[in-house]
Amino acid sequence: MADVQLSVVERQLGAVYDAMHAARAGTTIVGDLYGQAMGDLYPVEVDASSCSDWALLGSMVANLRMRPGQRLVDVGCGTGGVGLWLARALAVSVSGVDVSATALSLAIGRAGEFGLPVERVEFRVGSLGSTGLPAQFADGLVCVDALGHEKDRRRALEEIRRVLRPGARAVLTSGRSRVSPALPPWSEQAQGTGLILEAEEERPHEPVVWQRVYRSWVEHEAGLREQLGHAQVDSMLTEARTRGPELRNRVAVIVTLRRPEV
Ligand SMILES: C[S@@+](CC[C@H](N)C(=O)[O-])C[C@H]1O[C@@H](n2cnc3c(N)ncnc32)[C@H](O)[C@@H]1O
Repeated sequence: MADVQLSVVERQLGAVYDAMHAARAGTTIVGDLYGQAMGDLYPVEVDASSCSDWALLGSMVANLRMRPGQRLVDVGCGTGGVGLWLARALAVSVSGVDVSATALSLAIGRAGEFGLPVERVEFRVGSLGSTGLPAQFADGLVCVDALGHEKDRRRALEEIRRVLRPGARAVLTSGRSRVSPALPPWSEQAQGTGLILEAEEERPHEPVVWQRVYRSWVEHEAGLREQLGHAQVDSMLTEARTRGPELRNRVAVIVTLRRPEV
């Protein structure tokens, strides 16, 4: 498959995430804080850089409707836990795509932890707008907490449609402000890119969990600085302080889109 040439902006985004994934590698503090914030909803093994919990994994399993032996794509896969967990649970193969080469190298090293043979796992540099995957490659696609970083939403949805085989589904996490949404409703975004909106499920507990996560970052600032370094913790605290107050108006959703048969 062809290598993707990332744009300047995508390379810059990749560098930001390279630094984040490199700093968190080999430490457990961020995962431990996610775990404390999620309680028994936290799937330890997945070790995601997101609000991935048992409820989200369950919805993805149910909404993807995949069969053993099929191909799953995880876009914005990070260190791969979500896609690897799903690949094992659904007995499918997984192709992970991310702008961060550091995340991908960590993801490759995790395939064995999930007991997956190498031929069922592939990780590649690419972006939401340009995955580098062939047309109609995927029997299912997931994208967890990555879509919000893509400035060109339309291009990302068009790429998702291109990569899905007709009839296949994409399950995405997304968020919007209840008072001033920046984008049209999902029904319009789907229709405008030739996809069918099959389900949009709100996750009311997610903003509450993020509030707990952000509070814990502030409370554990010293320990975080010791393990992750100042640059990372500065950026985490900036996120906590800027996004934290917006959470009370945030709606977190799981969106299932299907590519029409024709
Ligand atoms: C918040 S992390 C989530 C990672 C993973 N989905 C998880 O749940 O653990 C966001 C990831 O998306 C990637 N990402 C952000 N924007 C992207 C884009 N436009 N194309 C591809 N990957 C992107 C980042 O490099 C990062 O690894």
